Amino acid sequence: MNISIFGLGYVGCVGAACFASMGHKVTGVDVSANKVDLINSGRPTIIERDIEELCRKGHEAGLLSATTDVEEAVCSTDISFIAVGTPGSGHGHLDLSYIYGVAREIGQALARKEGFHIVAIRSTVMPGTNKRVTEIIAGESGKTPGVDFAVVSNPEFLREGTSVHDFMNPPLTLVGTDSPRAAAVMEELYGPLPAEYISTDIPVAEIMKYVNNTFHALKIVFGNEVGAICKTLGIDSHKVMDIFCRDRQLNISPYYFKPGFAYGGSCLPKDTNALRALAADNYVDVPVISHIEKSNTIHRDRALDLIMAQGKRKIGVLGLSFKAGTDDLRCSPIVEVVESLLGKGFEISIYDKNVEVSRLTGTNRDFIMSKIPHLQHFVTDDLDAVASKADVLVVTNREKEFDGIPDRYPGKTIVDLVRMWDTLDYEGRYDGLAWAPINTNPAQDAETSRDFCKCRF
Ligand SMILES: NC(=O)c1ccc[n+]([C@@H]2O[C@H](COP(=O)([O-])OP(=O)(O)OC[C@H]3O[C@@H](n4cnc5c(N)ncnc54)[C@H](O)[C@@H]3O)[C@@H](O)[C@H]2O)c1
Repeated sequence: MNISIFGLGYVGCVGAACFASMGHKVTGVDVSANKVDLINSGRPTIIERDIEELCRKGHEAGLLSATTDVEEAVCSTDISFIAVGTPGSGHGHLDLSYIYGVAREIGQALARKEGFHIVAIRSTVMPGTNKRVTEIIAGESGKTPGVDFAVVSNPEFLREGTSVHDFMNPPLTLVGTDSPRAAAVMEELYGPLPAEYISTDIPVAEIMKYVNNTFHALKIVFGNEVGAICKTLGIDSHKVMDIFCRDRQLNISPYYFKPGFAYGGSCLPKDTNALRALAADNYVDVPVISHIEKSNTIHRDRALDLIMAQGKRKIGVLGLSFKAGTDDLRCSPIVEVVESLLGKGFEISIYDKNVEVSRLTGTNRDFIMSKIPHLQHFVTDDLDAVASKADVLVVTNREKEFDGIPDRYPGKTIVDLVRMWDTLDYEGRYDGLAWAPINTNPAQDAETSRDFCKCRF
């Protein structure tokens, strides 16, 4: 393929050299004449392992060159990668002026180019940038998105120091696009790389790099906080984290990673608090570990706000225990939500087939009686009774029988705290706790009548 790459810094130079080594004809573009000269003399613009040799070979094979002439680069290629800098401000905001500047230049050049062109944003950008770049290019070129050109999100995952190796062996290849034509070209381009190719929605691809890097930072900070606690206690933290990493079922695994409801139960709240207290007793400052519970409480309150925001008085809660298949109510986050709703005058009915009030014992009984003393008036094992009475059905755990709720009770508002369904075509309103609407039915967007005037909307 014929490829142009805008920005010949770390990402651009490595991409240019690697694509050339895969047999593509690459034209680099930079505002820096010095960088353009380096590429045109077969030399890299950066210092990295293996990059010298790749640039020299690409240059000798006639597959790697550079220019400052945007029109020449766009008109002689099928794909333009944008790999210019996106510096951050002190407050975390991004300066996207280089991205938008290049978009304008590409748009002006495209006005004079025949044929379909792909613009792939390789730089790290915030969700919404692809849309804006598409508008800019359409405005400058007079061409139609999806027909004459497509802007795709293709985040770069390389790390400086091992960038050539990382480019050729990425953890995965990610392309966000709504153009099947662009998706096919991108899949062919990356086909030779030994990595899973994932095609997804544009905003999903755009936010991915931030989610990845923030998690990497969280891993480092968590490991260091564990290390600081271990050191004061005379424990070898490397032995601890080595064993931690050997648990591939719960620790290093997809488990616990899906956005859902707040955690609860008798172990996680107690044990995270205990580790925080242990650190505090030893004068070790561990802000990440210390704020885990606060984050969980804020998330629980998000559920409360979401239920109240439906503007309905009659709420049916489906599941009271902290997870499916148990009657353990201790520190179940939905108990706190129900307690607040009762206090605010909502009419509550609760379905939980595992919770039989007369059979609750010990700390389990003590906990629930301290929160909802008249629980027996609200809870039942009759799902139909709860559903028929309520206007809003709140799904709080992934009990199998909740699967059929949309078919059984059409027209009710469903508040889903656990992502019970992947997608829905439901004749009613659906609201998820921590994901964008998944209901494709037009009824989702119909105006809802609200009957609870104290609600915050
Ligand atoms: N460096 C990394 O390890 C890395 C890894 C993954 C993603 N990223 C992201 O990739 C993007 C680029 O990062 P980088 O480290 O390669 O940046 P960089 O600063 O090294 O290079 C950017 C290049 O863009 C050029 N440029 C600026 N305006 C231009 C224009 N109008 N036309 C052509 N060229 C122009 C600059 O002269 C410079 O050579 C950033 O969004 C960054 O966050 C970086």
